[in-house]
Amino acid sequence: MRLIIMPDQHSATRLAAGEIASVINSRTKPVLGLATGRTMEGVYRHLSTFHHELGLDFSHTSSFNLDEYVGVPASDTHSYHHYMNDLLFRHVNISTHAVHLPNGMATDLNAECAAYEQAIIDHGGIDLQLLGIGDTGHIGFNEPPSPFDTRTRCVTLNARTREQNAPMFGGNPEDVPSQALTMGVGTILEARQLLLVALGSSKAEIVAEALEGKIDPQVSASAVRLHTNCTVILDKESASQLTPQTRKKADYLRK
Ligand code: F6R
Repeated sequence: MRLIIMPDQHSATRLAAGEIASVINSRTKPVLGLATGRTMEGVYRHLSTFHHELGLDFSHTSSFNLDEYVGVPASDTHSYHHYMNDLLFRHVNISTHAVHLPNGMATDLNAECAAYEQAIIDHGGIDLQLLGIGDTGHIGFNEPPSPFDTRTRCVTLNARTREQNAPMFGGNPEDVPSQALTMGVGTILEARQLLLVALGSSKAEIVAEALEGKIDPQVSASAVRLHTNCTVILDKESASQLTPQTRKKADYLRK
């Protein structure tokens, strides 16, 4: 695992966007695994800027998002479909046919999850999977406990996750959907490269637990340490509870 600690959120998200851009530039048909949430807003802003100012070309790129709420239509402003269109897809030249998110409105959710797994295989697998970390230690919506061989499936969201995401639903955790479709930890670990990004002091405790605690299904983000090509990008605040030994092993980049 490569750990990089950046001075602030702007430089951390810019570096993450740069890693994604390298994958886009180095493959003929790049396949990205994408995440949503507040952490990724800056990453997508930088990617949009790279497209407009540096000509980063998304025309051959396909994408698969980690998750989507159950029962929220794509047209709803709370859906992850809407989030992705709003923050990334409409700003770059990615084809609408090349972007994939699980359909949380499907009548047969199990069939939808199986089809999603198959679509990833049909695209040759994911080159780079972008990940945030939730307050429960989840990646995707893999709430504790999520065995490391789990696949795309319907899950019940932890009360803490509904609290974490309440601000996007007007502040009341009860208004956050109780279920979601998510790639499994096993699905995520099959990506050829993982890129985990965490920002801010609110993530410091769970970041330390995921990177230094037991590798355990109770903290699904700890599974990234099992991957042979994983980069973790933190800002100073989210790295603040790591031990000096871990921090000594990190790269510190200035820009
Ligand atoms: C979202 C996702 C989640 C978030 C995590 C962090 O697609 O998969 O794992 O990455 O909940 O969310 P933020 O960035 O809002 O703190």
